Amino acid sequence: MNIKLADNVIPMTTDLFEKFDSIIAEYSQLPTGPLNPFTVSMDTVVSPTEAIINGKKTILAGTNNYMGMTYNKECMLAAQNALNDFGTGTTGSRVLNGTYNGHKELEETLKDFYQTDHAIVFSTGYQANLGIISTLAGPKDYVVIDADSHASIYDGCSMGNATIVRFAHNDPENLNKRLARIRRKDPKAGILVVIEGIYSMLGDQAPIKELAEAAKKHDAVVLVDEAHSIGVFGKTGRGVAQEQEVEHLVDFTLGTFSKSVGTLGGYCVSNHPKFEILRLVCRPYVFTASLPPSVVASANKALELIKDSGLRVKLLNNSMRLNKGLSNAGFKMGTTGKSPIAAIVVDDKKIAIAYWQHMMDEGVYVNLAVPPATPNGLNLMRCSLSAAHSFEQIDYMLEKFVAVGKELGVLD
Ligand SMILES: Cc1ncc(COP(=O)(O)O)c(C=O)c1O
Repeated sequence: MNIKLADNVIPMTTDLFEKFDSIIAEYSQLPTGPLNPFTVSMDTVVSPTEAIINGKKTILAGTNNYMGMTYNKECMLAAQNALNDFGTGTTGSRVLNGTYNGHKELEETLKDFYQTDHAIVFSTGYQANLGIISTLAGPKDYVVIDADSHASIYDGCSMGNATIVRFAHNDPENLNKRLARIRRKDPKAGILVVIEGIYSMLGDQAPIKELAEAAKKHDAVVLVDEAHSIGVFGKTGRGVAQEQEVEHLVDFTLGTFSKSVGTLGGYCVSNHPKFEILRLVCRPYVFTASLPPSVVASANKALELIKDSGLRVKLLNNSMRLNKGLSNAGFKMGTTGKSPIAAIVVDDKKIAIAYWQHMMDEGVYVNLAVPPATPNGLNLMRCSLSAAHSFEQIDYMLEKFVAVGKELGVLD
């Protein structure tokens, strides 16, 4: 492209992209095309667990499609009907023309699902964190977050201009210390403590009871992000707080429809009596278009279906089979607990990239997760399993993980 500057424009001497030069240099070392772990493109998706990638049939072992809802017949039919009845999108904000009866029904379904007084739906889980955290914790408040928090939690803190304090990952004693220090300094400050039910990279569970008790001791409000645990844990799939029987200690529960629910969108539920004012003051709710009716309809249906404990049992059996198989084979694993996520730690980044590519050659797609997306600078081969996987697929993954691990020296 030939760009001609007008006579009165001063030519730019600064390059706003300069700060990314080291990332550009590192990225350019990666192969281009289908074997670049960050530019994979699906030719066709065959089912929740299989796709054709670059012409090859590939098992999907890293999609967060925990309940396999993306191809559920009832969810698809609900979406198709809504598409026919309401068109492809709302073209407006929830506070203008973007609230249809479906959006309100979805919020009613969430209230029923969580047994709470209030529910609000956002266009993504990212926006739910951005909106709720930034609106609840303003410039005079504190947000105290786990050091391994998801980027959307960090971004929500920055947007609200609250003072951000981090505590050591899953460490109630450290949280207690941080809160005590804030209270000594500022006895009346508003404090929001944010934790996740399951941490997405390693798949470890938060000790919600101990963390929430530390928060309550210092009169702080507790928000739990159940993005990776809705559907997966708890008697009716409400998440880790339900599983640990500590929902009464949680003030705000937040999550996403982009994983177990199999579509797109985010939500927050609570019993706080002033909750509804968020619809007017929460900028990532107000200043964006609402979810398309088809997405709303499939989310609504999926929330009904994921209550089924059979799916949860199936998912956890699948996950335990892979997690146990990998640790018995001698891999260094991210977590040893009950989790739908299995993450193999690979010490060397170059070997991790090669590992990912070999697994693709063998017809298995996993997530390659590297810093800064991972905690403690870890390189991970991250799998997130589905209730829709068969034992046969899991055994195939195991066989290939072990064979490639030996070939690359990750396993003895
Ligand atoms: C803990 C956590 N919160 C929020 C999100 C954002 O969800 P969404 O994909 O709906 O934007 C994610 C997504 O990975 C997540 O892991």
